[in-house]
Amino acid sequence: MSTRMPVRILTAMPNDANPDGDIFGGWLMSQMDLAAGAICKRRAGGRVVTVAVEGFKFLAPVHIGDEVVIYAEIVKTGTTSLTSKVCTYTRDGCTGDETKVCEAVYVFVHVGADLKPTPIPQDEVSEAVGLNGEMTEIARKAYQFIRSGGNDGTGRPMTHPAQEALVAEVGRLIGYLIDEAKN
Ligand SMILES: CC(C)(COP(=O)(O)OP(=O)(O)OC[C@H]1O[C@@H](n2cnc3c(N)ncnc32)[C@H](O)[C@@H]1OP(=O)(O)O)[C@@H](O)C(=O)NCCC(=O)NCCS
Repeated sequence: MSTRMPVRILTAMPNDANPDGDIFGGWLMSQMDLAAGAICKRRAGGRVVTVAVEGFKFLAPVHIGDEVVIYAEIVKTGTTSLTSKVCTYTRDGCTGDETKVCEAVYVFVHVGADLKPTPIPQDEVSEAVGLNGEMTEIARKAYQFIRSGGNDGTGRPMTHPAQEALVAEVGRLIGYLIDEAKN
C-alpha cells in the first residue's frame, strides 16, 4: 500500500484498451502526466509543460474494468522546473489491495505567457532555510503538516502511514542539516 495521497482515481474502460484487452501504455502515460502536471501547476502557480519523462517502467498489465490509482509527489524544485515521482497502482475494488503497475519521473517547466521558462515562485520555507530542492520539499511537507494541524496540503487529513513516511523524511532532513553545519 502506498503512503502517498492519490492524485487521480480512474476506471480503465474498453476505449483505453488494445485488441487483446490490455490497457494501452500511452493511456497510462497520459493519465500520469495529467496527475503530475496538476500538482506541479498548483506548486508553480501557473502553466507548466512536460519537458522530460524518465525511467518509465510498466511492471504489470492493466485490464478493462481495473480501478487505477495514481500517486504523484514533487521530489525536486529547480529554478524553473519541477520534478514529480509518479506511481500507478491497480486497486481491488473490494479489498482495497493495491498492485503497482507502473512508475516514472516527470519533469515540468513553469512557463509564462510567452511559453518561455519562468522561475518557480520561492515559498516561505525555501526562502527561510535556503535548502536545496529535495530538502525544501521535505521541509515544506513538514511545515504544511504542522501549520494545517495534520493535513497533506490538500485539506485532507494525512494518513498514518503518510505521517510515518514524513517523520522518516524529516529525520533525513535533520541529518542533511547536521552535515551542512559541519561543512
Ligand atoms: C520546456 C521548454 C519551455 C524549455 O525550454 P528551454 O529553453 O529548453 O529551457 P531551459 O534549457 O532553460 O531549461 C529549463 C529547465 O528545464 C530543465 N530541463 C530542460 N530539459 C530537460 C530535460 N530533458 N530533462 C530534465 N530537465 C530538463 C532545465 O534543467 C531547466 O531547469 P531549472 O530551471 O530548474 O534549472 C521547451 O523545451 C519546450 O517548450 N518544450 C516543449 C514542451 C511541450 O510541448 N511539452 C509537451 C506538452 S505539455
